[in-house]
Amino acid sequence: MSESKAYWEAYYANHKEPKNESMFARFVKPFLHSQKSLYELGCGNGRDSIFFAKEGVNVTGFDQCNNEIDYLNTKFEDFENISFEEGDFTSLGSKPKAQYIYSRFTLHSINLESEIRTLNWVTNHLLPSGLFFIEVRSIKDELYGIGNEVEKDAFVTDHYRRFLELNSFIERIKDAGLNVLYKIQSRGLAPFKTEDPEVIRIIAQYNS
Ligand SMILES: C[S@@+](CC[C@H](N)C(=O)[O-])C[C@H]1O[C@@H](n2cnc3c(N)ncnc32)[C@H](O)[C@@H]1O
Repeated sequence: MSESKAYWEAYYANHKEPKNESMFARFVKPFLHSQKSLYELGCGNGRDSIFFAKEGVNVTGFDQCNNEIDYLNTKFEDFENISFEEGDFTSLGSKPKAQYIYSRFTLHSINLESEIRTLNWVTNHLLPSGLFFIEVRSIKDELYGIGNEVEKDAFVTDHYRRFLELNSFIERIKDAGLNVLYKIQSRGLAPFKTEDPEVIRIIAQYNS
């Protein structure tokens, strides 16, 4: 489970409504085909899951925040191609394989051991040629170093963040059995209020 479940539960109690999709979701959209299945790991208030579902993709959003998940399942009960499940995305167990798996700003919520477990789960749950889309904070983030350092590159402020180093992260993705098709680390990809963090985006593929 995330190191900061209580923080996220409180956050989504005040941000229940899925508002605009992220810039990353708009970037990912052209890679998706309708009728295919997508898992979102750490969907929060579901803004990106709902955006993909409106494009005709069959979406399941996972998050640990059960109140928010209940709220979304009620709100979107008439949508046939979207559902939300409460759960720890680092320990989801066996599920049907999907064409796409999507993770935005969630892999830095978990420790290294959980990340490696999640990468292996992704490899085991992608269909052949399936794509894994990741956006995550990097060690070049302005927030790096703020708070108590609890593990390598991991700091706790009001919640836990573990900043990722691009090259070693790519090695772990490859070790899990995925091919990296696209990688970038840059500012300008995920501006939020006064922040413009240097983030990592990756598209990886499972080739059986
Ligand atoms: C920064 S928010 C991002 C939400 C969404 N992906 C977005 O971009 O709007 C991180 C989300 O990941 C969820 N999360 C973090 N660790 C988790 C875990 N181990 N299992 C399930 N959800 C988790 C949190 O509850 C929170 O909703």
